[in-house]
Amino acid sequence: MEGFRIDPWGTSYIKDYKRLMEEFGIKPITDELKSQLPFVHRLIRRNIIFGHRDLEKIIAAINEKKEYAVMTGIKPSGPFHLGSKLTAEEFIYFQKLSPKAFGFFAIADLEAYADNRIPLSESYKISLDNLTDLLALGLDPRRVYVYRQSEEMKVLRLAFIFSRGVTYNMLEAIYGEKPFGLYFSALIQAGDILSPQLPENGGPKPTIVPVGADQDPHIRLTRDIAQRYKSDYNFILPSATYHLLLRDLTGQTKMSKRNPMGILYLTESLESARTKIMNAFTGGRATAKEQRKLGGEPEKCVIYIELLATHFMENDDELSELYHKCRRGEILCGECKMYAWEIISRWLKEHQEKREKFKDLAIKLLEEHTIS
Ligand code: TRP
Ligand code: SF4
Repeated sequence: MEGFRIDPWGTSYIKDYKRLMEEFGIKPITDELKSQLPFVHRLIRRNIIFGHRDLEKIIAAINEKKEYAVMTGIKPSGPFHLGSKLTAEEFIYFQKLSPKAFGFFAIADLEAYADNRIPLSESYKISLDNLTDLLALGLDPRRVYVYRQSEEMKVLRLAFIFSRGVTYNMLEAIYGEKPFGLYFSALIQAGDILSPQLPENGGPKPTIVPVGADQDPHIRLTRDIAQRYKSDYNFILPSATYHLLLRDLTGQTKMSKRNPMGILYLTESLESARTKIMNAFTGGRATAKEQRKLGGEPEKCVIYIELLATHFMENDDELSELYHKCRRGEILCGECKMYAWEIISRWLKEHQEKREKFKDLAIKLLEEHTIS
């Protein structure tokens, strides 16, 4: 079988998750595992978080009331959108699962520079905005350490130390030929992920890294490095969960800022959000008559999959009721979009109101790293 590569800096969409899992050893989250979690997030219930590595270590830590770290990062490349909301919610979920969980949140400003040429002065402002969203989504500011990569000596030092054990051939095999800034970002990300285990951060501990499936190359590299540096640092190989890469609102598989109609920002005006949702790609038929007869195709529909199932409909019964109504042709897309909009607009309004309360705290958190 020809090996396939995932490009974490590309816009590639993964079509074959089964192959990804088999080839790279990502495990499904079985019902058995789900039953051992104190509560199961809707993203896990609905298999949007579809796989993991070593989630057992985190479950064991939760049940034995031992410490573990929740670690992730985002590139501050623009305002929060639905994709960033996913990672944020997962981070908050793992933070909430146990009082012994402690979060490490990396603002990947160096990566945003290497990948998107965003100057550090600009990404600082974006980070503040992003942190405001994180707080409004429920981040516990007393159990998190927030930092910018460009300012975090511990992480940068680790990246340098790791660089001694990594050759060009190893990087090329994982990522293909890339500018050195991106390779460097990958080493910094390994530093991010392993830094919670440094002696100054309390030493070795299980670490869960919730990410999108496109980040798996970084997870593999980091686990490889953790193994190599075990004798020096006693690292525990980090665990990870993976979510599906979702389509944009227009049904495109490439999320691109060049297609603003495709991206819903959490800070967007209700008017513009409404336009985007009314224009979203659906699984509807060519004519109303046909749809009444054949039913719609919710499994192809952005309103159903990306918006309601992934983000905005918490209740499983309501979701399944909508699914069947659509399949049976009992609801048409126009009406369905109005219904979705009611739910989404309410959510957006509430979120935007909450944000106002967290602006000062975001500044404090970014300056002081943590709030006691
Ligand atoms: N590379 C990630 C992205 O592009 C951001 C990131 C930086 C990250 N450091 C991390 C993710 C550590 C997980 C863990 O979104
Ligand atoms: Fe999608 Fe709703 Fe149309 Fe069904 S009725 S295809 S769920 S928008």
